[in-house]
Amino acid sequence: MPNETLTIIDNRTEQTYSIPISRGTIRAMDLRQIKTGPEDFGLMTYDPAFMNTASCQSAITYLDGDKGILRYRGYPIEQLAEHCTFLEVAYLLLHGELPTTEELENWSCEVMHHAMTHENVKKFMDGFHHDAHPMGVLISTVAALSTFYPDARNIGDPKCRRKQIIRLIGKMPTLAAYAYRHRLGLPYVYPDPDLGYTQNYMNMLWRRTEPKYAANPVLARALEVLFILHADHEQNCSTSAMRAVGSSQADPFATAAAAIAALSGPLHGGANEEVLRMLDEIGSKDRIPAFVEQVKYGKRKLMGFGHRVYKNYDPRARIIKRVAEEVFEVTGRNPKIDIALDLERIALSDEYFIKRKLYPNVDFYSGIIYQAMGFTPDQFTVLFGIPRTVGWLAQWQEMLEDPEQKIARPRQIYTGQDKRDFVPITLRGQRELAGV
Ligand code: SDX
Repeated sequence: MPNETLTIIDNRTEQTYSIPISRGTIRAMDLRQIKTGPEDFGLMTYDPAFMNTASCQSAITYLDGDKGILRYRGYPIEQLAEHCTFLEVAYLLLHGELPTTEELENWSCEVMHHAMTHENVKKFMDGFHHDAHPMGVLISTVAALSTFYPDARNIGDPKCRRKQIIRLIGKMPTLAAYAYRHRLGLPYVYPDPDLGYTQNYMNMLWRRTEPKYAANPVLARALEVLFILHADHEQNCSTSAMRAVGSSQADPFATAAAAIAALSGPLHGGANEEVLRMLDEIGSKDRIPAFVEQVKYGKRKLMGFGHRVYKNYDPRARIIKRVAEEVFEVTGRNPKIDIALDLERIALSDEYFIKRKLYPNVDFYSGIIYQAMGFTPDQFTVLFGIPRTVGWLAQWQEMLEDPEQKIARPRQIYTGQDKRDFVPITLRGQRELAGV
């Protein structure tokens, strides 16, 4: 067995330290013993944006960025996308095992039973401007749920936690659909618990005056697969926000609102919306080379490309490309897919992208499908947030059950002013006179 330690010589003191290595990491706290004297605080690590820092141990999702591997609880994403329903995968992420038939039936019934929201939700939903961005609506309404369920603050009670988890998974599609209908000036459609999770979401989005909504099975399956692909992705920005805010023992609704806010950024979940705006701006294949040149000169980002972890093709993007063709069989081909395919082909053969290992990520093709299904670009990140709620909650639950975790509170390197005395306001314009 190799000697799993790091030997560090501090050349300032000529002291030698042996630091244990475990699972390819050293504990940052083991560096604190490295001091120049008793007054010294000890060494810290400095890692802006956490480029090389593991914040937790997790058994939920495994990524191999070099090989383009994604597994939920050990199951390859390709197999789950092929064989499972979204609620089946949600059960897996939260419980650690695929459900039996009975477990899945009970789980689906519980989630669908909680799809309804308090009637007052509609009142503040109506208060938003007609063109309010749905992500702003979602952040606000999910946070507001904590005012309807004060028991959610009992985050130490597993039964209470489970109830809130089911509540939020059940209500996310309803809130998203209400935001969509509000935007269009249409009446809200109540959930129909007889329908499956995605069929009911489609029902609340698109039902008009028909007595019972019948979802197109191809589109419903496509949404199931897209939801499965977006369900979790280890310690991404929004999940890290969920863990950090949840570590203060805030309730899960306020915590999830923070995660949704993180997701809304254009570098994260907001990228799928930006991809469509980018494709609209490019407009036609003959304008792709000029756009790529702009990217290479650092003037633009190729939205939907690149990833902090994947330095190979994002396995989700590969699956989404296949789903796109199935959706287009029903909706008709979205011409933007041809621009996107050409853009990918040109980028993947260009040294700028090859050198930086930039490949299409989950956001590059997803918006093209959503648009073909009838969603407007500002809805796209909402479609990311609905399934990712399951991942956020699974990671939140794991964090709360992890005996090593406590309130997240990073340190800093202070680069500001040294100690200085107060300057009366009458002297402040004349700092040089005051000798400061
Ligand atoms: C998601 O973390 C997750 O798992 C996220 C996610 C999930 O499921 O939760 O997978 C979902 O957020 C996918 C990413 C969606 N975002 C985008 O598509 C936005 C465009 N992508 C980039 O902004 C960027 O690639 C990031 C934000 C995704 C990753 O950024 P990194 O890891 O900080 O990399 P970087 O910005 O340091 O880039 C390294 C180099 C730089 O060039 P140099 O300074 O070395 O010359 O690559 C370049 C960057 O300029 N680069 C790009 C680029 N992405 C990186 N150049 C052009 N276009 C891009 N998209």
